Amino acid sequence: MSANDVPEITEEEFARMTREEKARHGAALDGVDLVEYGERYVPGSPADKHAERSVAKWFLLTALFGAAFVVIFIVWPAGYKDAYSGDDQIIYALYTPLIGLTLGLALLCFGIGIIALAKKIAPHEVAVQQRHQGMSDEVSRQTLGAEVMDTVDKMGMVKRRSAIKGSLALAGGVVGIAAAVPILGGLIKNPWEKGDQSDLWVTPWAPAADGTKVRMAQVDGTPVRPEDIPAGSLTTVFPGVPGGAKASDAAVMLFRLRSDATVMIRDGQDGFEYGDIYAYSKICTHVGCPVSLYEQQTGRILCPCHQSQFDVFDGARPVFGPATRPLPQLHIGIDDEGYLIAESDFIEPVGPGFWESNQGSRPWGSHPKGSES
Ligand code: FES
Repeated sequence: MSANDVPEITEEEFARMTREEKARHGAALDGVDLVEYGERYVPGSPADKHAERSVAKWFLLTALFGAAFVVIFIVWPAGYKDAYSGDDQIIYALYTPLIGLTLGLALLCFGIGIIALAKKIAPHEVAVQQRHQGMSDEVSRQTLGAEVMDTVDKMGMVKRRSAIKGSLALAGGVVGIAAAVPILGGLIKNPWEKGDQSDLWVTPWAPAADGTKVRMAQVDGTPVRPEDIPAGSLTTVFPGVPGGAKASDAAVMLFRLRSDATVMIRDGQDGFEYGDIYAYSKICTHVGCPVSLYEQQTGRILCPCHQSQFDVFDGARPVFGPATRPLPQLHIGIDDEGYLIAESDFIEPVGPGFWESNQGSRPWGSHPKGSES
């Protein structure tokens, strides 16, 4: 059927039409022939109720996972927990996966619920439409509105479907709250509440409460001795504590510089090296990529992300690229058994982030090794 085949109707006739008649009339005006159109199931029949329950189930699951996300976001212990906290560490490590999992499942269930609503509750319709050009006239626009409302009517969303309406409202509300929680939650939790021991200040290189210093280890946990570091090389090491190799702020580069090299020492960091071995954070101070390219001849350490370069002969000072802070140097030594250890935690923040403000930044200055600072 084309729009030209639709008989003209008066305003009075149009006003007397039922909503479904208007919907069919509007479809006809658009050149749409509704071959089949109507409820999928007899309202109130067992099949109808089963369809409703199967849709409501997904919205209830949405609400459940959304609520779980909100609760976990707010009450689950988050942040850094040092390796000496034993079994507690796994609880902290689960925080990020859990909030990702619950929010993801909430959104997935919501999407499935909407698809199920369209497939099981929306009116069954088979339509054939002729193409036409240009903007629709007033009657067409009104009949489109009638068609939409008739669809909602036939879905039973106005007078019936309390299970779907309730669960959909619940799911929508919880997903809305879940969207707001990351913004508001950041205002509830204070990252500085533990002062000098706040998570952002501490890395796994910090000595244990009893003063035990942390050994430097390879990724498999094997402790490292000075003689394991070849001259002119770069070796990546991690804190030799449980979970040390997984800590995002702990990777350290060990350099054994040529003994005849002219080395500048950063002011206030005399003696941080052990002989010719220097330890610098591997986390770029620009936006946190691992800095791992090293040109031995020039002593340049290159970050592959945005090409920042740091001069290992001059306290890992940035000499090129967007990074503005030197790589933090770790104070190292050896223990009674000859293994390399961290004498203390880093004395300034590792990597980028909040320290783009001046939190914890130290003024730059260096002097030749062996001279007074
Ligand atoms: S993260 Fe290293 S230069 Fe940008």
